[in-house]
Amino acid sequence: MNQVDYLRISLIDRCNFRCQYCMPEGTEMDYILKQQLLTDDELLTLIQEVFIPVGFTRFRLTGGEPLLRPRVVELVGAIASFPETKDVSMTTNGFLLAPLAQSLYDAGLRRLNISLDSLEPEIFDQIIGNRGRSRWHDVWAGIQAAYSVGFNPLKLNVVVIPGVNDHEILDLAALTIDKEWHVRFIEFMPIGNSDLFGDRGWVSSEDLRQKIRSTWGLTTGMVLGNGPADIFQIPGAKGTLGFISQMSECFCDRCNRMRLSADGWLRPCLLNESGQIDLKTALRTGVSTAELREQLTELLIIKPEINFKQRVSGTATGTYTRTMSQIGG
Ligand code: GTP
Ligand code: 5AD
Ligand code: SF4
Repeated sequence: MNQVDYLRISLIDRCNFRCQYCMPEGTEMDYILKQQLLTDDELLTLIQEVFIPVGFTRFRLTGGEPLLRPRVVELVGAIASFPETKDVSMTTNGFLLAPLAQSLYDAGLRRLNISLDSLEPEIFDQIIGNRGRSRWHDVWAGIQAAYSVGFNPLKLNVVVIPGVNDHEILDLAALTIDKEWHVRFIEFMPIGNSDLFGDRGWVSSEDLRQKIRSTWGLTTGMVLGNGPADIFQIPGAKGTLGFISQMSECFCDRCNRMRLSADGWLRPCLLNESGQIDLKTALRTGVSTAELREQLTELLIIKPEINFKQRVSGTATGTYTRTMSQIGG
């Protein structure tokens, strides 16, 4: 059985982007009310007294957009300072990153995954639902800042949408040749905005690899990470290419993670709601952390049965209406 030692923590469900595949403009969002968010103290108590004692040592901060969380730098510092913590990372859209990159690094964050769905500002703005001044340059500045501060590995996430950004695959892959950047192509999932998925469908990782292979060749590669990406490399490139293939290849059997939503629900699987525990209510009604450790230990035993295989094998019906921003990327 896989060791489950990686917790993805959503710091906030709000986001300053409205990505078409996640929470497009016009979607009614039931945002978590401020008093329902886990407080900093509650979150740190859960990590220190529940998750760490049960064996969790790797933590990724997600959202919505995690950089919108007040005191995010201090939170990173507190999580990084637990002696058992082996890895603190963050997945961000990069818009607010440039001015924060140095302080996040100084607080102990070492790995950043930044979404970058297009190298063309107009397409980028269309994907993120922005009609004002282009936001591409702010995100690009965030990526450059993170690189010069020393974040390593620095990963760029691309959700591939047929007819929208799939003509840019080679340009995006080429970013890895001269710089130690790690570009990951993510198969579009039928979650959140299912209209777009229904209209567009998804492109398989193997199709992308064929395209890249016939241009430069492709070998297997290696990069530090806790996630489900399969790693390849353009021969001689400084960085790597990752493929996250949740539609074409089921990786549930190697799942090593659980998710904590911003309002304190512990979720054993991204798309399967079985087994969830409402840790916030438990804490607020005086359930002891010893009792919560027991509940978590029991959940870990049944976790292998709670997975996404139905969807991958095509036997599930319907789509998932909760967005990544609500579940916590
Ligand atoms: P590292 O490998 O540690 O760098 O991180 P990661 O790849 O786990 O993190 P990231 O937040 O960048 O996740 C990238 C994508 O992987 C997400 O957008 C999802 O599409 C996919 N993903 C992450 N975790 C899961 C999971 O538990 N199940 C499924 N089906 N997809 C996941
Ligand atoms: N399919 C695949 N990936 C998605 N993300 C958000 N929605 C989807 C979806 N429907 C990705 C973002 C980001 C990560 C947190 O989740 O692009 O990289
Ligand atoms: Fe886009 Fe991520 Fe924000 Fe969703 S949470 S709108 S995927 S940036």
